[in-house]
Amino acid sequence: MRKPMYLYPLWVRLWHLANALMFLSLIITGLSLQYSSVEYTIIPFNYAVSIHNITGIIICVGYVFYLFANRFTSNGQYYQFPLKGMMGRIMKQFRYYSYGIFKHEDAPFPVSVGRKFNPLQKISYVFVMYIFMPIVIITGLALLFPDMLPDKILGIGGIHITDLLHILMGFILSIFMIVHIYFCTIGKTPLANFKSMINGWH
Ligand code: HEM
Repeated sequence: MRKPMYLYPLWVRLWHLANALMFLSLIITGLSLQYSSVEYTIIPFNYAVSIHNITGIIICVGYVFYLFANRFTSNGQYYQFPLKGMMGRIMKQFRYYSYGIFKHEDAPFPVSVGRKFNPLQKISYVFVMYIFMPIVIITGLALLFPDMLPDKILGIGGIHITDLLHILMGFILSIFMIVHIYFCTIGKTPLANFKSMINGWH
């Protein structure tokens, strides 16, 4: 049996828990705002707006904390990768998830203290945390202060295009979350990764 490794420090676990809870709240209130009509509101409109705004601000604060913590602790190293050979590594991991795992092959990139994430996890976390999250946060803040938006962006209404981008990112991140939870079940046991996110140990 391999020795347990402490891979999820307390700050990662607390940030992740807050982030996941706020995210769920944003998805529920966001869907309610998107699909409610005058006759039928899923969550009363004013409540949905207030909860969406408050949880949005909490997630922003958490995100800034995450950026600083990743910058100034060793956790940031897990998000770095050399571009050279990246495609090959991603394909190797993809092949494992779609074929090798069913043949009980060994994982091509086993977890170690120096490598917490496999190449697919790494690329998806980098995209989500350093591209999609900033876009959803910036567009969300812009929609909170719409007076600061230009009337037109590329000939389209400023609020419209910002809103479109915000919703698009919201949907992409929601899909990420579903896929993310599914992949988290592919551990030593289906619950092993969730336990790691609670006690810190892999
Ligand atoms: C209920 C929702 C969620 C559950 C149950 C969940 C579960 C997990 C688990 C078990 C891990 C540890 C395994 C691993 O490192 O891959 C993890 C890590 C991670 N999750 Fe989630 N997650 C959820 C939502 C989210 C959301 C919404 C985001 C981002 C928008 C996110 C981003 C991350 C990141 C970046 C890591 C790696 C953290 C680190 O160690 O640096 N998760 N998640």
